[in-house]
Amino acid sequence: MSPLFRPLSTADLDAMQLVEQAAHAHPWSRSLLADSFGERYFTGSLWLQEQGGQELLLGYFIADRILDESTLMNICVSPDQQGQGLGRQLMEHYLCLCKDQGLTQLWLEVRASNTSAQALYLSCGYTENGRRRHYYQNASGLEDAILMKKY
Ligand SMILES: CC(C)(COP(=O)(O)OP(=O)(O)OC[C@H]1O[C@@H](n2cnc3c(N)ncnc32)[C@H](O)[C@@H]1OP(=O)(O)O)[C@@H](O)C(=O)NCCC(=O)NCCS
Repeated sequence: MSPLFRPLSTADLDAMQLVEQAAHAHPWSRSLLADSFGERYFTGSLWLQEQGGQELLLGYFIADRILDESTLMNICVSPDQQGQGLGRQLMEHYLCLCKDQGLTQLWLEVRASNTSAQALYLSCGYTENGRRRHYYQNASGLEDAILMKKY
């Protein structure tokens, strides 16, 4: 069965936290995830309908919008579901939602070491726009943030 898209709600926090902690080396806290439902944010998620009516969260994104700009703040796919095109589907869904809302200046930041996410963003039309040196903490110290923009 093909996965279903829908916006996230506060009722999804438990499922989000599970995927968040499994997918990210540096996951957002539950309270940061919970803050993603304010007025300036929008979200999308992919769910698999399981037998018995249960839903399994496969991945999601969280973005903000201000005037004609949006920043993609978080995107992740459950590790056991990665590499099957779901991240690309989520990105395409995000880009469609931006188009529908007239958001034309799209931003994101990604760790310099996160080359698989960078490959996804580049293939979706983002280009590198700058760097914040030593912006992120990692296991061995600090690493740069790459700022990417899509017009
Ligand atoms: C980044 C992420 C969302 C991609 O999701 P995914 O479902 O694995 O990605 P897809 O299968 O749709 O692949 C999309 C593209 O990503 C890139 N990609 C994915 N996995 C890759 C890998 N292991 N190595 C290199 N590129 C990779 C490729 O460009 C790929 O396109 P292609 O299949 O045409 O080559 C997922 O890896 C993830 O959740 N990572 C952890 C969280 C994270 O780093 N989020 C981004 C920063 S906030």
